[in-house]
Amino acid sequence: MRIRISWIRFALLNCALLQGAEVKLGVRAPELDAKDCRGTAVRLADNRQKRVAILLAQAQGGLLTVEVRDDACRQLEPLDVVVLFLQGNTDQDRRLLGPARSWTILIDSSGVVRRILAGQVLTGSHLAVFVKVWQEGKGVFEGSCARCHGADGALDICEDVKPLVGIGNRFTAAEIRAKLRIGELNDREVLVRGQFLKRHEVDAVIAYISGL
Ligand code: HEC
Repeated sequence: MRIRISWIRFALLNCALLQGAEVKLGVRAPELDAKDCRGTAVRLADNRQKRVAILLAQAQGGLLTVEVRDDACRQLEPLDVVVLFLQGNTDQDRRLLGPARSWTILIDSSGVVRRILAGQVLTGSHLAVFVKVWQEGKGVFEGSCARCHGADGALDICEDVKPLVGIGNRFTAAEIRAKLRIGELNDREVLVRGQFLKRHEVDAVIAYISGL
């Protein structure tokens, strides 16, 4: 019996350790050392920059070449986004990277992880689009959804409104889409909760609320 309890303890401790370095939607980015565009060491969770940051992480020997890094910095500079790189050469990095080995992660100005693409380091215009979609979704949410769900999606004062916080960890984008009960209108527009939205605005708001 004693052995069993210590095993459970051991398992729980392990979970806690792993969770410490976890990258999870809606949760503060873990404490990790990354490099910025100038090659300066930056503490990931510091977010001294107080701006949206993109973290590109790749296992050692991956494709985070100087060219890829320069391109990422060029793509995101006009959007006023900080770019951070993780080269995957420490134990801590390896634990964070896990089986996916490469990641593109959006961290908001308060240091919270808002978008995750596992298995890929986005490059070129795809990287800028990754940020722009989230920014557009934020605008749609604030204009069309926040009055019922609250600015941070946590509100449940309106009758029957479920808090949206953490929804991206509970449901896939397709499941969230189904919950919106979208009313079909025409090629460009749909109806969501009594409001006209463009189709790309719906995609954007789903990407945004997934990170609440
Ligand atoms: C007029 C108030 C209102 C507005 C505006 C509104 N919602 Fe909601 N939302 C609700 C209510 C009420 C529910 C819970 C009951 C239901 O699903 O109908 C809900 C549920 C949801 C759910 C399902 C949550 C879950 O866990 O099942 C999602 C996702 C959602 N809303 C997203 C949005 C998005 C995105 C927008 C903006 C485009 C939006 N809502 C605008 C009132 C609103």
